[in-house]
Amino acid sequence: MLTVSNLVVQYPKSKESAINHLSLSINKGEFVCVLGKSGAGKSTFIRSLNGLQRPTSGSIRWEGIELTSLREAKLRQLRSEIVMIFQHFNLIPRMSVFQNTLTGSFGKRAPYKNIFGLFSAEEKEKAYNVLKQVELSAHAHKRVEALSGGQKQRVGIARALMQEPRMLLGDEPVASLDPSTSRKIFELLKKIHIERELVTIVNVHDVQLAKEFATRIIAFRDGHLVFDDSPKQLTDEMFTNIYG
Ligand SMILES: Nc1ncnc2c1ncn2[C@@H]1O[C@H](COP(=O)(O)OP(=O)(O)OP(=O)(O)O)[C@@H](O)[C@H]1O
Ligand SMILES: [Mg+2]
Repeated sequence: MLTVSNLVVQYPKSKESAINHLSLSINKGEFVCVLGKSGAGKSTFIRSLNGLQRPTSGSIRWEGIELTSLREAKLRQLRSEIVMIFQHFNLIPRMSVFQNTLTGSFGKRAPYKNIFGLFSAEEKEKAYNVLKQVELSAHAHKRVEALSGGQKQRVGIARALMQEPRMLLGDEPVASLDPSTSRKIFELLKKIHIERELVTIVNVHDVQLAKEFATRIIAFRDGHLVFDDSPKQLTDEMFTNIYG
């Protein structure tokens, strides 16, 4: 379980907090979509959850561990459990789909092995398996730069799966994709979410996608939580309150 208490994130030199006294809990099995206008605090919230953004004050507890007081080395370890997928994929374009997928196991390995690029037979087999899950087996040995956006995001997801996540975070994972590809990526995320019983937290600009896939929607406005309920409760009036 994830428990956020009284979280405040204020960037240096800014007058307002990007996240303002946020408290909420999220349980295993919840697929949470995060809504809000540009600048509302969605990325700040998501990045706080894996320590990419250090909070100003407050607490973030994950399975009993207080994340806000962890040192960088410990946080890095924890990032194999709390895995992020990104809008721009963050892949290595000149490397193959397979190699990019394998880099997902870096978090779990001894550093010297990373330098020499030694991957065990077991890790390689696992990479082939996750590529099968994201339906990219046929492209395993293509360079990532030769893929479509949707395929690249599948590699991003495959890399995340290599780490055996327990919490999956997405900072606008479909913002660079067309509507039909976005939907397919959400279908894949939901399937993985159910199969692996994850906590999934994804921000998205497409409210329809959120309504269709989320089990719970939260929304920020100017750093304040203004909605936290089931998708059914997101009425037109609420929508206006979120987006103004
Ligand atoms: N690195 C930073 N330094 C200073 N201010 C920042 C930084 N990152 C974000 N902010 C500010 O914090 C607030 C929240 O930003 P955040 O990126 O979390 O919004 P968002 O909801 O993800 O927006 P978008 O939909 O445009 O991605 C904004 O006012 C933004 O200008
Ligand atoms: Mg953002």
